This record gives sequence, structure tokens and C-alpha cells, in this order.
Amino acid sequence: MVTVSEGPLEKLAAYAMRYVKPGQTLGLGTGRAAGAFIRALGASRIPVRGVPTSLASEELAREVGIELVGLGDVKRIDVDFDGADEVDPRLNLIKGYGGALVREKVVAAASRKVVILVGPEKLVPKLGAHHRLPVEVVRFAEPYVSRELAKLGLKGRDRMDGDGNQFLSDNGNLIIDCHVTKIENPSRLEREILSIPGVVGTGLFVKMTDMVIVAPSADCPVRVLRRKS
Ligand code: A5P
Repeated sequence: MVTVSEGPLEKLAAYAMRYVKPGQTLGLGTGRAAGAFIRALGASRIPVRGVPTSLASEELAREVGIELVGLGDVKRIDVDFDGADEVDPRLNLIKGYGGALVREKVVAAASRKVVILVGPEKLVPKLGAHHRLPVEVVRFAEPYVSRELAKLGLKGRDRMDGDGNQFLSDNGNLIIDCHVTKIENPSRLEREILSIPGVVGTGLFVKMTDMVIVAPSADCPVRVLRRKS
């Protein structure tokens, strides 16, 4: 018999299952941590409905037998489970390294509670520590948006896919990965970027997260961080 060992993301996903109740509508995030959660949810057979944040999560959720609904089918989402690329001490986030930032933000905004699943390497003292802030832009507007971002001190480059073509989000837009250093005021930066016509959304998630669950490491068990309002 082959035994499959449980990695930190599977343990994280198993821990997160305690926040799921039968009959709920859940946001289904995108990425490795969210994927581990979707698999655990499917395996649990708890009757819930899911609103996926990307085509990839939609496909995975279908595979594991989760009933899917759209934003038009539900009045509200009870809990959104997603991953993140950076988490600061106030539980503000940078998301979008997987390219699903816009749908992820819509689903988070439509949810009563947002639970973020991450490994300990995602915890940073200030957003920008990993020097990358994704911004989704309408294709037509890209040259203009790039110039305006540069005026804000944000030099960026269009994200490319594995074939050397410009990466397209599930919404058919481009992603500019901006080079950032420590972001002192995420709310202000979010407002400034969103004021550029052609920008669809940024990877900054400010004051949206209720709880972060951190995967276990060799010297630390699962940790739960809650936002102080
Ligand atoms: C997708 O666009 C992202 O926001 C992901 O949620 C984020 O990149 C975290 O992904 P991992 O769990 O794969 O690190």
C-alpha cells in the first residue's frame, strides 16, 4: 500500500474545515493553498455551494464534486477561503501572483467573512516585501496605464505566460507586475492606482481579511491571526 504523506498545505486545509458549516455558500479562492482547501472540502462531502474565483478553481471544484453557483444565484457568500502572496500585521494583503486578483477581490467583497490560508513565508512586516504588486489592466489602455504607473514611481512589466505571450487573466485583461518596495500606505496607493483609467484592479486587499490561518512549520503548529478592528 502506498501512503501519501500530508504536507503543510493539506494540514492547513484540514484545519480550515472547522470553519465550514453545512448549507453555507463559500468563496473558493485560487492557488495552491486554496486548491488544497477545495480538495479537502470535496472530500468532506459537507453539502455547501461554492463561488469560484477563477476558471482553474471552477474546474477543480467540479472535479471534486462541489456544487457551483454564480454571484447572481446567491444573495451573499458566507465565508470566502483564499490564499495570499503577502500578509502584513494588520492582515492587509497582496494577492494576484496567480493572476486571479480581480475575481478574488469581487468574491471577497461579496463575502461576510474572509479567511486567508498561507504558509509562514507569506507573513511580512510591511506589504511590498516581495517587491511585486500585480495590477490588472484593459489591453487597449496598457501603454497609457504603464506611463501613469511610472509617474507614481511604479515601474512595471507585462506578465508573460509560459509560451512567451502576454499573460491574459480569466477576464481577458493584461497584468502589469509593478516593482514595489515597502508600501507605507496601502489604502492611498490603492486609491492612486485605481484613479488611472484602464486599471481594472490591484492586488492590494486592504481591510478585507477577517482571519488568517498559517500553515504549520517544523517548529510551529497551525496559527490563527484575527484582524483587530
Ligand atoms: C491568485 O491570483 C493569488 O491571489 C493566490 O491566491 C495567491 O497567489 C496565493 O497562491 P498560493 O497559495 O499558490 O501561494
